Amino acid sequence: MTKQRVTKAIFPVAGLGTRFLPATKSIPKEILTLVDRPLIQYAIDEAREAGIEEFIFVTSRGKSALEDYFDGAPDLERQLAAKGKDALLSEVQRATMDSGSIACVRQREALGLGHAVWCARRLIGDEPFAVLLPDDIIKSDVACLKQMVDAYDGGSMVAAMEVPNHRISDYGVLDINTHIGDVVSVNGMVEKPARDEAPSNLAVIGRYILSPNVMRNLNKIEAGAGGEIQLTDAIAKEIAEQRAVYGYKFEGTRFDCGSKSGFLQATVACALDRDDLRGELMEYLQDLLMLRAAAE
Ligand code: UTP
Repeated sequence: MTKQRVTKAIFPVAGLGTRFLPATKSIPKEILTLVDRPLIQYAIDEAREAGIEEFIFVTSRGKSALEDYFDGAPDLERQLAAKGKDALLSEVQRATMDSGSIACVRQREALGLGHAVWCARRLIGDEPFAVLLPDDIIKSDVACLKQMVDAYDGGSMVAAMEVPNHRISDYGVLDINTHIGDVVSVNGMVEKPARDEAPSNLAVIGRYILSPNVMRNLNKIEAGAGGEIQLTDAIAKEIAEQRAVYGYKFEGTRFDCGSKSGFLQATVACALDRDDLRGELMEYLQDLLMLRAAAE
């Protein structure tokens, strides 16, 4: 059997972003920057590295700044070129999406991640597709989605990460059948289980390669945990109907940029990675920590 290519990715970006209010009253969460690059750019770069060719954004009211971000900026590009600011020019061009490679569909009401994915159903057709949540930033040598695409051989696959017991109720959690290297076959999935009911410590994070059948399941899924239509429930239905679902234990460090502390940690980590910022920031952090320790 020839391996099916994954060329389409859905980016659900229609959430309310309430944890970042009041900023998200007028700025989409996905435009918030880690140093100077918006969260959405990291997800796009990762998808490109994984070979994605069609980018589908599920947006909502108030997200027009996000759609504008993908447009070309000919005046700005001309000025940067004229001033010889080549590095900045290539950063700006990196954000521009080729005509015809992106599509935006609207989610009229934030009814949950599963519902957001379902909003893109007419653009998916009968092939496997990726889903990337831009809130999850993964720093790795090889892009997380590329690791998954390389390992993918049919069925559905979710990125999985071990989390400490006291955090398990924040996640969708895998009930593991067998381990084969980095791939685990899955018996079941539970969304946000109580700590003592979690089937494992392997949590699902925001990268998925899904069989088109998951989209069909979403047609029938009712609201689940938190009153939202959950993507986890549509994937769990695959398992219940004996279709293959795998977890993939990716290599890399994941930051939950949907939370304030995860966002701050990612900001510091990104800044410390940069030659132009590392020295000054390290000095500042060391001084700050010393002052704090002295004050306690
Ligand atoms: P979150 O659970 O982080 O929700 O969504 P949120 O609205 O973005 O943020 P908070 O919790 O209110 O602070 C995870 C991802 O799913 C998308 C979000 O945009 C985010 O990328 N999402 C969520 C939708 O597109 N639609 C929804 O109805 C819910």
